[in-house]
Amino acid sequence: MSELRERVTQAFSARFGGPPEQIVRAPGRVNLIGEHTDYNDGFVLPMAINRAIWIALRPRSDRRILLHSLGFDQPADFSLDGLTHSRGWTEYTRGIAWILQQQGIALSGWEGVLASDVPVGAGLSSSAALELALLRAFWTVSDFEWNQAHMAQLAQRADHGWVGIQSGIMDQMISALGRENHALLIDCRSLEVELLPLNKEIRVIVLDTATRRGLVDSAYNERVAQCRAAASFLGVPALRDIRLDAFNAKAEKLDEIIRRRARHVISENERTLQAASALRRGDVRAFGQLMNASHESLRDDYEVSSRELNTMVEIARQREGCYGARMTGAGFGGCAVALVDAATSVNFVNTVGEAYTQATGLQPNIYICQASDGAKVVSPNQVSEIYETSEV
Ligand code: GLA
Repeated sequence: MSELRERVTQAFSARFGGPPEQIVRAPGRVNLIGEHTDYNDGFVLPMAINRAIWIALRPRSDRRILLHSLGFDQPADFSLDGLTHSRGWTEYTRGIAWILQQQGIALSGWEGVLASDVPVGAGLSSSAALELALLRAFWTVSDFEWNQAHMAQLAQRADHGWVGIQSGIMDQMISALGRENHALLIDCRSLEVELLPLNKEIRVIVLDTATRRGLVDSAYNERVAQCRAAASFLGVPALRDIRLDAFNAKAEKLDEIIRRRARHVISENERTLQAASALRRGDVRAFGQLMNASHESLRDDYEVSSRELNTMVEIARQREGCYGARMTGAGFGGCAVALVDAATSVNFVNTVGEAYTQATGLQPNIYICQASDGAKVVSPNQVSEIYETSEV
């Protein structure tokens, strides 16, 4: 039994004097390739990881939501009537209640306990995992249809309309649609997806640099604006709509910074599609090289890497059995991801950490990740698990 499942179950019983009726789980994610492409209507290739948010809950007869977190002091405690803003993580709970009610869905109250092993602020999408876990929690006590892509869109709308973050759609999509042992190619315009099996001989290793950057939001919004400016100059709805050769023919007329930003996005879209083909034919080497090229482009053209991320990536690439490494997520700090031969992965983990500490004085966190399922209900008595297969 998963350790967190046990913890939320016990904490629920201790707090509410009885067992939970439902347990839900939604995973964090690591993006393998396709960075800063989602808000350009482009392609991304993430996988859901075996780190997740768990909520144990039971319905209430009134319209109160009471959710305790094992990681944060303040509970989310509010009525579904007359929602108001608060601060911190509880905003997500209100935001999800808000967007569901905006859809005309009649919600019921519930009480629960939440636990997570997705590090916050590391670029592994703890917020999207929280949103999808909350949607699942509301789903178990209310009457609405669970369509994975639609749920991801609602989570994104809660970000935009309630929490006040202009997120893309990648994180919510993968937390909703992830599948064990698979990466997911997502077309962020049509929301069409393709599950791609991961080769059993490789390991996906997340390398947390132990650095966090405060300015991520403003730098992120600036990149979004620069991409819009480039698309408008190039006369296309989004940067997804122009190929690299057509762009190169027109690029000279663009402002130098905007040109580099656009070149990253356009080339990254092409790399992501090539990486998906490499995965389909089981060509791990080609995949790793595309990851390397992605990092270079994020570092030089998009300028969202950092000294620590570059150091981590360099160190990872020097190890035996490493096919490729790159920064992952929004950037400016957080995590890198490496694709490593399974046979050398333990040695890789042991030596990368040491070398990184020597180079930076920082203590990294390193996770060998397994691709896991998207948001789902896990029966509290462990007899069965409900998997959703609705079309997207
Ligand atoms: C953050 C956002 C995503 C995506 C990445 C960059 O993680 O939440 O939507 O834009 O940055 O690829």
